[in-house]
Amino acid sequence: MQDCALDKGLLDEIMDVARVMSADGKPADYIPELALTPPELFALSCAPAGGETVETGDTERFFTMQSISKTLALAFAVEHFGAANVFRHVGMEPSADSFNSLMRIEMTSSKPSNPFMNAGAIAACSLIHTAYRESSAERLFGFFTEITGRDDGFDEKVCASEKRSADRNRALAYFMKSVGLLHGDVESILDFYFKLCSIRCTSGGLAQLGAMFASGGVSPVSGRRLIKRETAHIVVGLMSTCGLYNGSGEFAVRVGLPGKSGVSGGILAVVPGRMGIGVFSPALDAKGNSLAGMKALELLSDRLNLRGF
Ligand code: DON
Repeated sequence: MQDCALDKGLLDEIMDVARVMSADGKPADYIPELALTPPELFALSCAPAGGETVETGDTERFFTMQSISKTLALAFAVEHFGAANVFRHVGMEPSADSFNSLMRIEMTSSKPSNPFMNAGAIAACSLIHTAYRESSAERLFGFFTEITGRDDGFDEKVCASEKRSADRNRALAYFMKSVGLLHGDVESILDFYFKLCSIRCTSGGLAQLGAMFASGGVSPVSGRRLIKRETAHIVVGLMSTCGLYNGSGEFAVRVGLPGKSGVSGGILAVVPGRMGIGVFSPALDAKGNSLAGMKALELLSDRLNLRGF
């Protein structure tokens, strides 16, 4: 197959086909503020190594990172505490359970399957929060700012909305504490986790985050190394097996790239050595992954011959 050129014309074509998929889903509503997002929004950005970002759609529109920020928490925790330490608290295996599942934790009372399940991300947050306390959120926001070169803050309304409706995460975290899988003050660990989930970004910011992982840890904006190559490998490896939860297998077949989704409708994808991709479309499938986002990545992967597997 002949590779196409990466240009705005190609992304426009992909957007036209992909955004139709939104009709089959709807924005997340278990965080009430997210349900207010207009479902027809769509943005797609590609940040190639050493090149200008190419993008289309609602690229100025801010959305919250939600679970995509779990890649930041994992990278930060591995950098600061070492992989051996982190993986004492959380596993590195995929799970067939939904992202907020309690079942396995309760059945086994053993560490969460991987750092992208809510339970695993809360465990990673507990490590970071125990070490850095009041400055933990600022440190993670600063890490994302170093990657994208801009500080767009976090969305206080979405954060407060999640905090008010977080019975499920609260149940998970308190259960983990009761069986010795989580240490420290549950409410302040969760406050830190909700702030991370509420980091504001654009599709372009996600593409730059992807470009940082694609390059093995170098900021696409400043050219500075931000994380070790080995840390980037860990995050990208887990994205390829666990990034879309119980939809990771389908994503590997259809898109063939490491990815990480969030319930706001964003998906981050990494083409190792080549580029980062960010896509945003709020209507989700039953597993909490963006329908049009997955379709756009599938088409992009086909047209640019990006498949890694
Ligand atoms: O903890 C939650 O439920 C949300 N803040 C994040 C979940 C999420 O994004 C799952 N991804 N598709």
